[in-house]
Amino acid sequence: MSSSLIRGAEAEIHIKDSLIIKKRIKKGYRITEIDLRLRKSRTKREAKAIEKCISLGLSVPKLVSCSEKDFELSLERVKGKQLRQALNKTNFREYGDQIAVFLTVIHDAGIIHHDLTTSNMIAAGKKLFFIDFGLSFFSHKPEDKAVDLHLLERALQSKHPSLSDKMFRNVISRYNAKDKEEVLARLRIVQSRGRNKAKRSD
Ligand SMILES: Nc1ncnc2c1ncn2[C@@H]1O[C@H](COP(=O)(O)OP(=O)(O)OP(=O)(O)O)[C@@H](O)[C@H]1O
Ligand SMILES: [Mg+2]
Repeated sequence: MSSSLIRGAEAEIHIKDSLIIKKRIKKGYRITEIDLRLRKSRTKREAKAIEKCISLGLSVPKLVSCSEKDFELSLERVKGKQLRQALNKTNFREYGDQIAVFLTVIHDAGIIHHDLTTSNMIAAGKKLFFIDFGLSFFSHKPEDKAVDLHLLERALQSKHPSLSDKMFRNVISRYNAKDKEEVLARLRIVQSRGRNKAKRSD
């Protein structure tokens, strides 16, 4: 059996053959009680959101098992590259279309991902898989959906500055949630809040 390790922001990822074991590790800077609570709740959130996405037919790795007390999930391993490495000027529209469909479906089901970065998407050939639901939650509020979109915009701006404008515009034009108009109106407010904050800290 092969086993190797990837260290994520919050978790250790062990690769064992066709499985990924994701274990949330103790963070010394957090008070123990809070640390235990966060690791447990994020493990639980992640499992719940993945199950829901699977029931919606979305492209997420299958959940094989979940142990809240060990802060551990095992997931089907997606063989591919983080989108962060795979994204380029020839494929950004195709991947952007898949991001827009994913966002439309999760938002209509009341799921907010809340950590949409290109490290949390795996490109397996042309198909994109979505991972890392530890910060996700359930909400139908346009504000929460707008923040989800804005987090993606910020992630694109910081890691893919030469593509971010075109790609985000493409995602928005394909995003088709039931309350799209309200969400996009909210997004403009969230964006201007971000700009004001940046100005204040100049
Ligand atoms: N199912 C999977 N298949 C293949 N690779 C994966 C899978 N899950 C995670 N990875 C790899 O491990 C990395 C870290 O995983 P993930 O993003 O879930 O953890 P994290 O960022 O530490 O999570 P969190 O912020 O929830 O603690 C991913 O960017 C990806 O490269
Ligand atoms: Mg991650």
